Amino acid sequence: MRRPVIQIHNAKMLYPTGEGLHRVNLIVDPGEFVFLVGPSGAGKSTVLKLIYMELFPSEGQVIVGKYSSLSVRPKDIPYVRRQLGIVFQDFKLLPDRDVFENVAFALRVTGARRDEVKRKALRALGEVGLAHKRNKMPHELSGGEQQRVAVARALVNEPLALLADEPTGNLDRENAEAIMDLLLRINQKGTAVLMATHNLELVSGMGKRIVRIENGRTL
Ligand SMILES: Nc1ncnc2c1ncn2[C@@H]1O[C@H](COP(=O)(O)OP(=O)(O)OP(=O)(O)O)[C@@H](O)[C@H]1O
Ligand SMILES: [Mg+2]
Repeated sequence: MRRPVIQIHNAKMLYPTGEGLHRVNLIVDPGEFVFLVGPSGAGKSTVLKLIYMELFPSEGQVIVGKYSSLSVRPKDIPYVRRQLGIVFQDFKLLPDRDVFENVAFALRVTGARRDEVKRKALRALGEVGLAHKRNKMPHELSGGEQQRVAVARALVNEPLALLADEPTGNLDRENAEAIMDLLLRINQKGTAVLMATHNLELVSGMGKRIVRIENGRTL
C-alpha cells in the first residue's frame, strides 16, 4: 500500500493568544481531492501551515511523505516543501518578475539546469493555458490569470500534493469556476489536492471528500 501523502495525527498548536488548533486529524492519500471546510477562524490556514512545516505542533504529529514533524531536520524543510505546491488567496506573485520568471524561480532554487527550467516552466504555464502570456508582468494580468500563474508555480516541481488556501476567495464567480476546473483537472492527472475554504456551498455537490473543522478541531 502506498503511504498517505499527508498525515496529521492529534495535532495541537496554540498561538500565544491561546487560539489555534486543539485537535486535528487529517489524512490525504495519493491522488485524493479533499476539501477542508470551516468558518473563518476555525484553523484552516493554520492546518496548512503545519503541513508546510512553517509551524510545528506542540502535541501530535504531522507527516508529509517520509518526513515527520517529530524528527525533521531544518535542512530537510526545503525538501518537505518541494513535495507540496501551495496556492494562496492573494496569489503572492513576485511583482517585479514576469510570468515566466515567477514560475521558473521555484525551479531555479532547486538547482535545476537551465534547459530543464525552461522546459518545465513552459509546460506548467501551458497546463494553466498561459504560455502565451509568459513575458507579461503580474500587474498586466487579470486576477484570474494571476491565480493561474500561481497554480503553474505550485505545479512546476511536480508535487505530491497541491495545497490551496481559499484560492477562489479574491475572484469573481467566472474566474473562481475556472480555478476550480483547473484544480480538478490537475487532480485527475494524479496530484493530490487539499483545498481550504469557508464556502460550503462551493464544495457541496462536487462529490469530493469534505473534512470539517470548527474551533480548531476536525470533526
Ligand atoms: N499569527 C497568529 N497569531 C495569533 N493568533 C492567530 C494567528 N494566526 C491565526 N490566529 C488565530 O488562530 C485561529 C485560527 O486561524 P486560521 O487563520 O487558521 O483560521 P482560518 O480557518 O484560516 O480562517 P479564515 O477562513 O478567516 O482564513 C483564529 O482564532 C485566529 O485568530
Ligand atoms: Mg485562512
